Amino acid sequence: MSNIKIAGIGAYLPSLVVTNDRISEFVETSDEWIVQRTGMRERRISEGENTSDISTKAAKLALERAGIDAKDLELIIVATISPDMFIPSVACLVQSNLDADKAACFDISVACSGFVYGLETAKALMMSMNYKNALVIGAEVLSKVTDWTDRSTCILFGDGAGAAVLKRDQAPGIIKSYLRADGKKGEALTIGATDFDTPFSKEKKLAKRTIDMNGREILRFAVSVIDEAVTEVMKDTNVSFDDIKYIVPHQANYRIIKLAAEKLKLSEDKFYLNLEKVGNTSAATVPIALNEMYEKGLLNKGDKIILVAFGGGLTYAATLLEW
Ligand SMILES: CC(C)(COP(=O)(O)OP(=O)(O)OC[C@H]1O[C@@H](n2cnc3c(N)ncnc32)[C@H](O)[C@@H]1OP(=O)(O)O)[C@@H](O)C(=O)NCCC(=O)NCCS
Repeated sequence: MSNIKIAGIGAYLPSLVVTNDRISEFVETSDEWIVQRTGMRERRISEGENTSDISTKAAKLALERAGIDAKDLELIIVATISPDMFIPSVACLVQSNLDADKAACFDISVACSGFVYGLETAKALMMSMNYKNALVIGAEVLSKVTDWTDRSTCILFGDGAGAAVLKRDQAPGIIKSYLRADGKKGEALTIGATDFDTPFSKEKKLAKRTIDMNGREILRFAVSVIDEAVTEVMKDTNVSFDDIKYIVPHQANYRIIKLAAEKLKLSEDKFYLNLEKVGNTSAATVPIALNEMYEKGLLNKGDKIILVAFGGGLTYAATLLEW
């Protein structure tokens, strides 16, 4: 039983729906502009639930569907760039909420590529540590780090969490991953964290604690790395594009997906999109989309799918897996 498979998926979205019209009440924008440039119509925004709260709710659903008791969990990884705090990690907070006392716990900071990186990290640890299972969560309360006065960014992001439980299985699961980064381009998308202001610092440096982004550069980067990551993850696998039922991309902008599909010479229909209603929830977009697909009955055992994501770091990643 040496394969590692997603045995249960879950997600949780805060209940408050924030439409484009609602955003245009406080920044100079319009529903028409946002729909045309991004494809987004609404997103969910937390009114107080923190990253660990929404992670726990998504995790409970995934555990129930996997038929695993939290007490038997051996590993919890949370991919997030909007943790409740620096320490404890969100993974440790989730562990406490779930009473998952046996689990090793840590967060990873890979921005929007975090869930895809997290799956492969969990797989590798399950192999090296001989764990029977793992919980991988992508969760963000980005509204905490959004600059609500910046119309070029505040229209894009939303809050939400998705979770996957991994188990050992005889059938194929995670077949191959491709994980990369381009740190030299990191300045294109930043969220500051701490001030540099100590009795010893030569100059005071105050951090901008909200999202700062060069949208055009990210758009260009995204289109080229989706092409690279999807092409590379398929290499030497004996899987052809005809065998792929869905590509589940990071939900950043409809235009990015359209351009990437053209570059890959694939039909847009192969790409599963839900950004219209959920927006960009960074590390959570891919598991939230998977959960939605599962609930709609779109995923059957044996289906081959590709997950592909890109974002701050800049990072990018893809995973080829069998459902
Ligand atoms: C942010 C993004 C939607 C902007 O779209 P764009 O077509 O690149 O638009 P530009 O940034 O060139 O701006 C064009 C004009 O629209 C204006 N504009 C920006 N946001 C606006 C908004 N919400 N409403 C109305 N006008 C807006 C700009 O000020 C600019 O005006 P100007 O020409 O007078 O200076 C787009 O670049 C994008 O989605 N990039 C990728 C971002 C992303 O996915 N980030 C997360 C990655 S994980």
